[in-house]
Amino acid sequence: MIIAIDGPAASGKGTLGKRIAGHLGLAHLDTGLLYRAVAAQCLARGVLDDVAASAEAARSLDVGTLDPAHLRTGALGEAASVVAARREVRAALVDLQRRFAARPGGAVLDGRDIGTVICPDATVKLFVTASPEVRAERRFKELAARDPLASYEAVLADIHKRDARDSGRATAPLARADDAILLDTSGLGIEEAFQAALDIIEAARTRRG
Ligand code: DC
Repeated sequence: MIIAIDGPAASGKGTLGKRIAGHLGLAHLDTGLLYRAVAAQCLARGVLDDVAASAEAARSLDVGTLDPAHLRTGALGEAASVVAARREVRAALVDLQRRFAARPGGAVLDGRDIGTVICPDATVKLFVTASPEVRAERRFKELAARDPLASYEAVLADIHKRDARDSGRATAPLARADDAILLDTSGLGIEEAFQAALDIIEAARTRRG
């Protein structure tokens, strides 16, 4: 069983992916971490603008060394969105993601192009979204707990910028696959969103037999 979860920044897809994987006993890959790790390497070497260097960083990426705690920063999200727009970087990460998806026990992958490009034959496809304002509010609350200078307006502007770049790029843009089921979490808490996702997965599995 392969569960593909796509959606924009701060839509809650990562949290959902992790919980669904834990609940169903499946492996989970947050594919945003791959692009974040590529961006982190490029920034450390001062080569963020260099397409060939970012593609090389993607080719030599070791999934075993991904460190979510260091990779999930706002600055790396923005830099990840820049390197992720490059065809060469995306191409270098396709096989790795497909191998992960094909593991015998099944897997949950979340990202931007899982249902459209990486796993077009996924058992279940979810497109998780929420309004930009709701996503910004959630991200702002997380940030404000650590940083008293955090600004809601700045977070909202960042969300709009990332949405535009991730949806507007030529290669594998953020898009809902035709057969993906939309889950709008704007009015839902984490528990409600999780239950709604499980209901969708159960219904899709039943339909597929
Ligand atoms: O999901 P995230 O915020 O960790 O992703 C960071 C950036 O990486 C996002 O702005 C776009 C890019 N990304 C992508 O292009 N394709 C994916 N499958 C996952 C992430």
